[in-house]
Amino acid sequence: MSALWQDIARAAGVLGEDGRPGATIFAEMTALAQRTGAINLGQGAPGTPADPLVAQAAIEAIQGGVNQYPPVQGNPVLLEAVQVHQQRFYGRQVATEEIVVTTGATEALFSAILALAPAGSEVVVFEPYYDSYAAAAAAAGASVRTVPLDPVGFGFDPAALEAAVSERTSVIVVNDPHNPTGKVFRREELELIVAAAQAHDAWIVTDEVYEHLVFDDLAHVPVATLPGAAERTVTISSAGKTFNVTGWKVGWAIAPAEVRAAIQSIKQYTTFVSAGPFQPAVAAGLAGDDASYAARAESLQHRRDLLLAGLARIPGLRTGVPGAGYFAIADFSEVTDLDARSIIARMAELIGIVAVPVPALCAPGSVVQEQLRGHVRFSFCQSHADMAEAAERLAGLDPSRL
Ligand SMILES: Cc1ncc(COP(=O)(O)O)c(C=O)c1O
Repeated sequence: MSALWQDIARAAGVLGEDGRPGATIFAEMTALAQRTGAINLGQGAPGTPADPLVAQAAIEAIQGGVNQYPPVQGNPVLLEAVQVHQQRFYGRQVATEEIVVTTGATEALFSAILALAPAGSEVVVFEPYYDSYAAAAAAAGASVRTVPLDPVGFGFDPAALEAAVSERTSVIVVNDPHNPTGKVFRREELELIVAAAQAHDAWIVTDEVYEHLVFDDLAHVPVATLPGAAERTVTISSAGKTFNVTGWKVGWAIAPAEVRAAIQSIKQYTTFVSAGPFQPAVAAGLAGDDASYAARAESLQHRRDLLLAGLARIPGLRTGVPGAGYFAIADFSEVTDLDARSIIARMAELIGIVAVPVPALCAPGSVVQEQLRGHVRFSFCQSHADMAEAAERLAGLDPSRL
């Protein structure tokens, strides 16, 4: 019999064949970048400073003595700020009884899935997917069912959604905007998901950490704002991406009060409380003016465009244009027969760039994993200087040498 940690590690693809812990793909790629001195476009670690508004507010909170345990549910100032934020951006009314502050979106996701997915049930995710969901499902004793995203354009077939969701489904996870594809789900797609959840009495757990990093003329539509969705949805987000403070680990979940209480009762015995002085700081950031939100998205969009311009100069490469988030996916399958991991190893040697193989973000042995065999995820949240340099290096990649 395997231990619970082994089930979790196996589900996330990080259990060695000998039953011992292995490295995550992010740690592996970071080590490759360090070994080769390459620019690391693997992990989504922002290379620009924390938003000055939240940084200053955190300094003031620490100096002002906000350093002890906050309430388990969260500092009332942040609960109210999340409430106002939902109304301001999405016209959504939530009560503070429906909000709990967590240690990043990660804790919210883990606790929500533990609270809502009974052992033996199924958790549906769109593939490729962020590694936390399968880990949380395994911790709950649930299994993962996948809905494939199309390798070109990253849409999904409604029939595949229908096939994946059944009476065994406890939770459908919707990561929108989506990592790793940069997909922003269209309203019609969200409507299909809500209808499937309603038909099978399933919960929807969203991961909206990139909600404010949306580009071009796209708009983020929270699932919970669709008719009939709020009563079966846990809306999850965090401050890390929005304010360039990924190390602060301040997140939140919004759910019907009873489910919020269930999530909180797991939090009570895992982290107990989260990040005392950072909570009022994040509240200050959420209340920032529209221009501050727009400036952060524009800065990131500019770096996205630098990356895309560099990738566009590699003949034969097909790159999706991400509508949001930190990442772009390039398809090397017309350029080389190598798999993504080998392509990255060669890029590290040839041009000093490291990224992440997309197959590592798929279910082991799945059809999608095979379809995305030559797909590489590049992050563009590094500094402008690093992104400009990375784009130059990519433009100079000679595909025949891969
Ligand atoms: C899709 C997605 N969800 C959640 C997280 C983690 O969020 P947090 O740092 O708030 O726990 C990340 C971080 O990369 C992410 O990409």
